[in-house]
Amino acid sequence: MPRTPATAAASKPAASSSPAWSSRHLLGLQELSADEIRLILRQAEAYRELATSNAKKSALLKGRLVVTMFVEPSTRTKVSFNLAARRLGADTLDFAAGSSSLSKGETLVDTALNIEAMAIDILVVRHPASGSPESLTRQVKSAVVNAGDGAHEHPTQGLLDVDTILAHKGKVEGLRVGIVGDILHSRVARSNIWALTKLGAEVWVCGPSTLIPAELQEFGVKISHDFDDLLPKLDVVNILRIQLERIKGPPMFPSIREYARLFGLNGARLKTAKKDILVMHPGPLNRGVEITPDVADGPRSVILDQVAHGLAVRMAVLHRAAGFAPFATGDSPAEARSAKAGGPQ
Ligand code: MLT
Repeated sequence: MPRTPATAAASKPAASSSPAWSSRHLLGLQELSADEIRLILRQAEAYRELATSNAKKSALLKGRLVVTMFVEPSTRTKVSFNLAARRLGADTLDFAAGSSSLSKGETLVDTALNIEAMAIDILVVRHPASGSPESLTRQVKSAVVNAGDGAHEHPTQGLLDVDTILAHKGKVEGLRVGIVGDILHSRVARSNIWALTKLGAEVWVCGPSTLIPAELQEFGVKISHDFDDLLPKLDVVNILRIQLERIKGPPMFPSIREYARLFGLNGARLKTAKKDILVMHPGPLNRGVEITPDVADGPRSVILDQVAHGLAVRMAVLHRAAGFAPFATGDSPAEARSAKAGGPQ
């Protein structure tokens, strides 16, 4: 997807002449600086063409093994990481949690150590417990990439959402972005909040009061419970699903029907929004609940674009996890590979 000059400027890296990554692990966006987020996005930009071509492949990760270990369901994220690894020339192994010894009571760490004994380089982990990728980093030697941990973070989703906004709006700074839905249980909301606030957006969260943690205000996020009032002011709206699987105990809102009436994005409501609003959703969609099909498939929706941006972003994250230095400005992936024949940082 072509970028405007404004986009290129918005995704410029740190002022340093030879920027370096802060870590090989990617656990969350809370701990990344705005410059490092920009650096990852610039790296993703360098991979854009490779990401969108079935014909070409890089050999950057030739001989490396990337394992996806998902202890929670996933469609987009797992496929995207696997494809990103293969486009970089890595070998991939998908570890299916349901048919593994995890289901016989083995701990995540023991499972990871056993997998690691087979000489893996990068472990991409999804787990229902917040913080589990972080605790793995203290036990395993491989680079750990968080593909979603409980309600904590989903950093590559946050990065790809920002990358999509940059591609369409040319900037993030100064935009008013609304995240609507089940904020309380959403790792996507948290990663978006960190990335967007660091890059200078005005971030609003909106939903029933039971699904919005009040402490978000401490991080400079604005809170609304009135979607009809907020929507006309937004440049971007990111719609989240209700994470019913994480809601234990009594219901947190009267009914799905009531939720859809107050917080669902439908065609009539969208007419009150700015003409150039971007409609985003991380998926999976619950059509007819938080978003209606006419909106999800309509002209303001960039939902499938988000998926496409995910591939380049994950290539950049795997490049970082493998320990390769960021490309210098203007390098193509091939040039950067030969220029740094020295290998990982
Ligand atoms: C996630 O893994 O958090 C998804 O991308 C969003 C969701 O499940 O609603």
